[in-house]
Amino acid sequence: SGNIASLKEVFKKDFGIGTAMNTPQIEERDPKVNAFIKEQFNMVTPENIMKAEELHPQWDVYNFTLADKLVEYGKKNNIRINAHALIWHSQLPAFARRIQDVDSFKTFFKNHITTVATRYEGKVFSWDVVNEALNEDGTMRKSIFLSKLGDDFVTEAFRLAQAATPTAELYYNDYNNEQPKKRAGCLALVKKVKDAGVRIDGVGIQGHWHAGKVPFKEIEESLLQYAALGLKVMFTELDIEVLPRNFSGADISQRMKEDPSLNPYANGLPDSVQQQLASDYEQLFKLFLKHKDKITRVTFWGVHDGQSWLNGWPVRGRTNYPLLFDRQLQPKPAFYSVVGLK
Ligand code: XIL
Repeated sequence: SGNIASLKEVFKKDFGIGTAMNTPQIEERDPKVNAFIKEQFNMVTPENIMKAEELHPQWDVYNFTLADKLVEYGKKNNIRINAHALIWHSQLPAFARRIQDVDSFKTFFKNHITTVATRYEGKVFSWDVVNEALNEDGTMRKSIFLSKLGDDFVTEAFRLAQAATPTAELYYNDYNNEQPKKRAGCLALVKKVKDAGVRIDGVGIQGHWHAGKVPFKEIEESLLQYAALGLKVMFTELDIEVLPRNFSGADISQRMKEDPSLNPYANGLPDSVQQQLASDYEQLFKLFLKHKDKITRVTFWGVHDGQSWLNGWPVRGRTNYPLLFDRQLQPKPAFYSVVGLK
């Protein structure tokens, strides 16, 4: 990889360039991948290991081993850590999902935020304080947080986080929050936090998009509207997948073995799709550069196609190609179209 451009260098004056790191990368199991991360990225979001399920398995038990390791890794390599995520309905520990009475749930909520955010005060750059609290129509998602605490839980989460980690930037993060209805809900949610006198520094647009269907217009409108509220805008989990998600039925993994058309690019990506991906990424980064004064960070959800979550979601065993680097860590046409903008 010595000869290729470095994304973080190419966009140094524009915005940070991040990646997600999962357990194998944090444990530095493959030195080639870790050397590559240092070359290409200056920001990292833990893909899983700082979620409540991982950090806080029992009422009084916390497991900080991997998170501490990541923080050390960031410090050593001059990489900013965006910690992810304090409050999220998914990947919650089983004990928390089983809590019945409101007072106990309140105590869990407060303890979790305070314990975790305090531990990393001064050590992480930022936190996704609340993740995915909205429905597609902009209303609040039904979750254990909503049902036990009411819709003030978002403001309360930011209030507790601010008290525990005064120096970290605090963000709200969601997917599809560039779409008009969900965006309106997101703008209202942010205003509500601000009106309560509680600090919120930015909004993350996850950016899990589909090749040929990237919503450029909505993305541009959104970043302008979020920025108009005084928020930093970041693209936090960027990937552009080439496979459809419209699967129904849990038996898809079995069916895939019998019907190869369900995993159409198992042997490689056709040129036409490769070009579509390159053109989508090019247009997207053109838009990011146009508004670079409003965008602080662009984080890819993974280092290379081989370890993207989209090979396993919403069904396992498919072959997806959503990132800028292929399974051998070689740059794809999309990489060249992006760096070619500068
Ligand atoms: C995903 C991870 O990439 C997977 O490894 C895990 O199994 C499930 O979660 N929105 C988020 C991320 O905020 O935390 C999710 O990450 C992807 C969707």
